[in-house]
Amino acid sequence: MTMILTDLPTAIKRSDFASDFLWGVSTSAYQIEGAAAVDGRVPSIWDTFSATPGKIRDGSTGAVACDHYHRWEEDLDLAQSMGLNVYRFSIAWTRIFNGVDAEPNAKGLAFYSKLVDGMLARGLQPWCTLYHWDLPQYIQDQGGWNNRDTIKLYLQYVDVITRHLGDRIKHWITHNEPWCTAMHGNWDGMHAPGNKSLPLALQVCHNVLVSHGHAVPLIRANVPDAKVGIALSLHPVKPASDSAEDIAAVSRHDALRNRWFLDVLYGRGYPAEALALVGADAPVIEPGDMEAIAVPCDFLGVNYYFPEEVANAPEDYPLRTRIVYPQDRQRTDFGWEVSPDGMVTLLERVARDYPTGDLYVTENGSSYDDHLEGGVVQDTARRDYLIRHLAAMRDAIAAGSKIKGYFAWSLLDNFEWAEGYLRRFGLTYIDYATQRRIVKQSGEWYSAFVRGKN
Ligand code: FCB
Repeated sequence: MTMILTDLPTAIKRSDFASDFLWGVSTSAYQIEGAAAVDGRVPSIWDTFSATPGKIRDGSTGAVACDHYHRWEEDLDLAQSMGLNVYRFSIAWTRIFNGVDAEPNAKGLAFYSKLVDGMLARGLQPWCTLYHWDLPQYIQDQGGWNNRDTIKLYLQYVDVITRHLGDRIKHWITHNEPWCTAMHGNWDGMHAPGNKSLPLALQVCHNVLVSHGHAVPLIRANVPDAKVGIALSLHPVKPASDSAEDIAAVSRHDALRNRWFLDVLYGRGYPAEALALVGADAPVIEPGDMEAIAVPCDFLGVNYYFPEEVANAPEDYPLRTRIVYPQDRQRTDFGWEVSPDGMVTLLERVARDYPTGDLYVTENGSSYDDHLEGGVVQDTARRDYLIRHLAAMRDAIAAGSKIKGYFAWSLLDNFEWAEGYLRRFGLTYIDYATQRRIVKQSGEWYSAFVRGKN
């Protein structure tokens, strides 16, 4: 049952933000493109994982998804019609290389080239995510991100992409949410490739961060006027109670959830508190790694969805904490807590504790069980979620935050990883049977807002 949010800010307008504030949407290749075997694309770990029974809740795969590979013009038209000025998308590595020693695939490069031209023709500034989880399966077959050779292959791929598209793309995100790549992929096994080993996950995490560190100067060498950053999934952490034990649990959880990434990216090394907890499971670090990871970036992308609440749990390895889900919180239909204040707390904390430079909310959004009725989708709860998060962002900026842009997740309903098509995050509804796109009430609202018409 969808909960309608009540305490809505009465007025929020685009003119409450700087005129050069960026307004966009985010998407990712595997979640929307489909066309899994077209034009030389090879399988990614998500093709393998989603074809494995029991891994995806509705048994689906991204083989067709939103068929964006064939319908990209219509989709970019939608983004343009919403009045947006930026569009964040990711490139599928599997369309660019089909083997370790292969030449770049001209058809894959041509697709992204015309996609980027399509963005520019519509007044959409392209923001490119180089890695949004879809590692080629042939690389996983030789150890994936656990194998340091993958860093070299990633840099080879980044080199080709930035040489090919760097004349038109100036904003680059090396990785989307390394937490998910590493931990969901290799610790809890919820995501591809589905391993369940903490030391493996921590090594993967480290290698991904090293690849980020080496990619930044490479991108800058190929694209002299590039702006480069990374997108992290960060969560404000709250104690489950006022007890001293629960309050102490917050720091342990935060050490692995947030500081494990932020501290290394900003030159402080892995947090001692977390290293002490993981002990021998800590990653192997090679000389020069920490310096490489700490390369200064132009911006930090923050993907914000919900806060986490933790309790002391002495039996839980390694953090001795447990996430709790109190009943009395406002939640989306996915169960994620709705907390615009959490976004503000998080952004203020990040800006206070780290020299991030410009901040961008590179993802934020909500999943509700939408219904197409009489040709329309009345997703009032998603619209209200959006209004409240934009109002929170406005207040944070008034209080001094350096947030320069906001990307709503997502333009379209899409393949939501382990949840398949059961979760809809789009501002646009996809009728998967016909691939019809229907802009939802939330999309209409965002569009009116961005156009300064509400
Ligand atoms: C983020 C992912 C994105 C999408 C949203 C809902 O963690 O980056 O691909 O699945 O969650």
